Amino acid sequence: MMITTMVDLAVDLSALEHNYRQLRGLCDPQVKLLAVVKADAYGHGLLPVSRKLAAAGVDYLGVGSLEEGLMLRGAGINLPVLLLLGILPEEAARAVAADLEVALFRLEVAQALAAAAGQQGKRAKVHLKVDTGMGRLGVLPQEVLPFLGGLKKLRHLKVMGLISHLAVADQEDKTYTHKQLQEFTSVLGAAREAGWKLPLSHIANSAALWELPAGHLGLVRPGLMLYGSPPSPQRPPPVDLKPVMSLAARILQVKRLPPGSSISYGCTYTTPDWCDLAVLPVGYCNGYSRLFSNRGEVLIHGRRAPIRGRVCMNLTMADVSGIPGVKEGDRAVLLGEDQGAQLRAEELAGWAQTISYEIYCALGTANLRRYTGV
Ligand SMILES: Cc1ncc(COP(=O)(O)O)c(C=O)c1O
Repeated sequence: MMITTMVDLAVDLSALEHNYRQLRGLCDPQVKLLAVVKADAYGHGLLPVSRKLAAAGVDYLGVGSLEEGLMLRGAGINLPVLLLLGILPEEAARAVAADLEVALFRLEVAQALAAAAGQQGKRAKVHLKVDTGMGRLGVLPQEVLPFLGGLKKLRHLKVMGLISHLAVADQEDKTYTHKQLQEFTSVLGAAREAGWKLPLSHIANSAALWELPAGHLGLVRPGLMLYGSPPSPQRPPPVDLKPVMSLAARILQVKRLPPGSSISYGCTYTTPDWCDLAVLPVGYCNGYSRLFSNRGEVLIHGRRAPIRGRVCMNLTMADVSGIPGVKEGDRAVLLGEDQGAQLRAEELAGWAQTISYEIYCALGTANLRRYTGV
């Protein structure tokens, strides 16, 4: 993590709470909400984000590893927590001791959890993961009933429900998504007919939360929209989302270059004219992608300044010709708002041909975070 007072990565927890309430408003009141806070809350910070959402009334938290779950418990957060990636068999005792619920797709893990729960006088809660078309974790739909059959003897296991993940819920064409949901509800129905109660089954990510109400079931599992980004930048959701993360930096140097000057490694940009250049103390070590080279923009005095030349490890150059009065020490905004102008994570993602998720994870985990609205 880069520690420097020249760079300011801010996380606005009041925006997070605002987004949470917006998402709540899209669901029926009886639908539970699991906030996906894996990957250090998409780079926003596991504990501050989880504390804020817990105070706001979130029902469940979803993390990516046993360690993240244990961190929540260590911080005194006693909400139900689901380990979305499951666990290794050898992690079972610690998961059970901390009352962490587990996404399940391996019989060995079920056996390890049941054994640990038996020893600890508990019942381990699991959510059976079904691969309805994501092609990632989970048992195939036709394997669900035999798998459940294999769990019957494990008295110390409580199967909470089936869970699945949608592959293209963010796309306008919902054909595949409906197919996945149909596959899911039909296997859920079959399992219930076979006698399994399955009180809490879930499939809806952010995109399904706003575009697939039929997929809400008992619980929705949004991540991205909590952090203020739409799942599909082309189709803004019908709620007001406020970006939670922002990134600013102080200008290290301003200088005037004559026509024909090269800028940064590789001499990939040559000034066609006189150029006023601002040098910023941010680079790819800060999670600011090198793919932004000659493509991205930053905000200075509320105006857009194009990035010139390659983004370096710690430095990036922006063209401030035509922006009057720019001086050393002035603030440049690389993500967020400046005097009414805005750079959203979706735009940065577009420069690098990636998604806003990656922008948040990269910036948020590489820089020291400052929290507001705590
Ligand atoms: C299993 C699972 N559920 C829900 C989510 C949340 O998805 P989104 O951030 O698109 O809302 C994720 C995120 O990757 C996930 O892996």
